[in-house]
Order: sequence, then C-alpha cells, then structure tokens
Amino acid sequence: MKDTKHKLSSLTIALHWIVGITIIGLLALGKYMESNEAYALYDIHKSIGMIIIAFVLARVFWRILNGCPEPASNYSNIEHLTAKVVHWALIIGTVALPVSGVLMSGAGGHGLAIFGWELLAENIDPNNLEEVIPLNKTLAGLGHEIHEIVGNIMIIAIVLHFLGALKHHIIDKDGTLRRMLGKSL
Ligand code: HEM
Ligand code: HEM
Repeated sequence: MKDTKHKLSSLTIALHWIVGITIIGLLALGKYMESNEAYALYDIHKSIGMIIIAFVLARVFWRILNGCPEPASNYSNIEHLTAKVVHWALIIGTVALPVSGVLMSGAGGHGLAIFGWELLAENIDPNNLEEVIPLNKTLAGLGHEIHEIVGNIMIIAIVLHFLGALKHHIIDKDGTLRRMLGKSL
C-alpha cells in the first residue's frame, strides 16, 4: 500500500493528480474571473475550491502516514533540497489557498455554498439589497491578501515543479515522472 522506491502507491498517484490538476484549473479560473470581473464564475470557483479541501487534507494525512517518496535516482544535494522546498511550498499552498478563500468570502459577508448547498448565508444589507455587509472586514482583507499572494507563489512553484519533472524525464532520463504516472521502475 505504501510508496516504495520502485513504485508509488495508487493513493499517492491518485491524490497527486486529482489535487494537482484541480489546483492548476482553479488558479487559471481565479486569475481569469478576477481580471475580467466574471462574477458568474465565482460560485463555481468557490464550490470546487471547498470540495478540494477534503482531498487536500487526505493528501496531507497520507503524506504524514506514508512519509515522502524516496528519490527515484541519485539526485545531487542541491536538487534534492530544491525538490523538497518546492514540494513543501506546494503542499502548504494547497492548504492555504482554500482556507484563505473561505476566510475572504465568509468574513466578507458573501456567503459560502457548494453548488447551491448553502453553508453560510450572504449578509445582505436590509437597506440596500444590492450590498453585502462584511462580518469582519479585517479577516476578510487578510484572507484576500493571503489568497492573492499564495496564489502567485503557487504559480511560480508549479512552473519550477513542472520544469523539474521535465528535466528528470528528458535530460536525466530517470523514472521520476514515469513513477508518478503509475509505472514501476
Ligand atoms: C485550492 C483552491 C483555490 C485556488 C487554487 C484559488 C485560486 C485563486 C486565484 C489565483 C485567484 C485570483 C487572485 C488574484 O490574483 O487576485 C482567486 C480569486 C478568488 N477566489 Fe480562489 N482559489 C481557491 C479556492 C477558493 C475558495 C475555497 C474560495 C471561497 C470559498 C475562493 C474564493 C475566491 C474569490 C471570491 C476570488 C476573487 C477575489 C476578488 O474578486 O477580489 N477561492 N482564487
Ligand atoms: C504540471 C503538472 C505536474 C507534473 C508533471 C508533476 C509531476 C510530479 C512528479 C514526477 C513528482 C514525483 C517527484 C519525486 O518523485 O521526487 C511529483 C511530486 C509532487 N507533486 Fe507534482 N506534478 C505536477 C503538478 C503538481 C501540482 C499542481 C502540485 C500541487 C498543487 C503538485 C504537487 C506535488 C507534490 C507535493 C509532490 C511530492 C510528492 C507527493 O506529495 O505526492 N504537482 N509531481
């Protein structure tokens, strides 16, 4: 069940790709909807972002139970350290992004719902039904800042991670990428 040097467990692989592809999609959707003021997309972004929390937590627990996979080949010390730092940045980012999103929307009074299933109602101003009143402006602002900064850091970390995976596959020709695609070394 656990990862070995020669083969990663199917849980490691499934969680990596479910969380990874969803995060890339949400980063792109978040950037697009914010710069184009595409408010119709906010509910989809928030719903998928809250659903993914369950998979992110499962992944963190699995990482703690299983430990980190051993390197597939003999990486240099600096490469090993870079991969470790980037992996931890990716794991922390996958937790911080949905949590800060919930904080921004929840404390901002915008409400929280998963595809129409309401978890927290919008806090609408009774005197102006077009306006929402923040529940806590400071927390909402903090959530917004963290969401934006961590989102930008994640984009850089994912590019580095992707380039690292390509380097192993194309230049080193080792099994690092093949192992994450379910093949045995
Ligand atoms: C892993 C999950 C998530 C990722 C990767 C993600 C990513 C992003 C990104 C990159 C942006 C654009 C930020 C910017 O550059 O200013 C954004 C915006 C936004 N996100 Fe998320 N997000 C996630 C989860 C959530 C959750 C769970 C919520 C709320 C429940 C949420 C609510 C929002 C909102 C409301 C905006 C627009 C902010 C504005 O218009 O100022 N996000 N998200
Ligand atoms: C762009 C597509 C991606 C490719 C080609 C890719 C490839 C890989 C490969 C080959 C490994 C194994 C590294 C090793 O054995 O040392 C790995 C591990 C890892 N990847 Fe990715 N990845 C991608 C996207 C992502 C994204 C978007 C995230 C985070 C949101 C992510 C997070 C991680 C983490 C945390 C690990 C460490 C092992 C683990 O916790 O499962 N990856 N990735």
